[in-house]
Amino acid sequence: MINKKLEDAINAQINAELWSAYLYLSMATNFHAKGLGGIANWFEIQFKEEQDHAMIFYNYLISRGARVELKPIEAVKTSWESPLEAFEDTLKHEQVVTGLINDINALAVEVKDYATQSRLTWFIDEQVEEEETAQKMIDSLRMIKDNGYAIYMFDKELAARTYIQASPLATNAE
Ligand code: FEO
Repeated sequence: MINKKLEDAINAQINAELWSAYLYLSMATNFHAKGLGGIANWFEIQFKEEQDHAMIFYNYLISRGARVELKPIEAVKTSWESPLEAFEDTLKHEQVVTGLINDINALAVEVKDYATQSRLTWFIDEQVEEEETAQKMIDSLRMIKDNGYAIYMFDKELAARTYIQASPLATNAE
C-alpha cells in the first residue's frame, strides 16, 4: 500500500500534468490563429507529452493498488502576443512543475517509499530537459527579436518536431 499523503500528492500531480497539457494546447491554438503552424505543432507535441506524463502517474498509482482521483482542470490563459511570451511562460511553468516533482520526491524519501522514488527519477531527469529546451527557445527568440525572416525559419524548424511516446509508457505496454 502507498502512503495516503503520497497518493494524494500523485493525484494532484496527475491534475497538474493534465493542466500542463491544456496550457500547451491553448498555446498551439494561439499560434495556429497567428499563422505560425510550426510553433503550434511544437506545442501540440508538448500537449501529448504532458498527457503521457499524467498517464505514467496514473498507471503507477494503479500498479500500487491506489485510487486515481481525477479533479477538475482549471482554466488556462488563451492568448500570447509573441512566441517569446509563450516560451517564457513555458519556462516559468516548467520550473513550477519541477518544484512539484521535487516535493513529491521529498515526501517519498520521508515515508521511505523507494518504489516511488525510483518512478520519480525519470521525471526529475525529464524536468531538466524541459527547462533546458524552453530556455534554448527563449535564447533564440531574444536573438530573433522582430526579424520576420528569422521567425519564419524558427517556425519551420519547430514544424519538424515529431511525437515520441514517453519511454515509461512504452515499457508498460510490453
Ligand atoms: Fe510534465 Fe512539462 O512536465
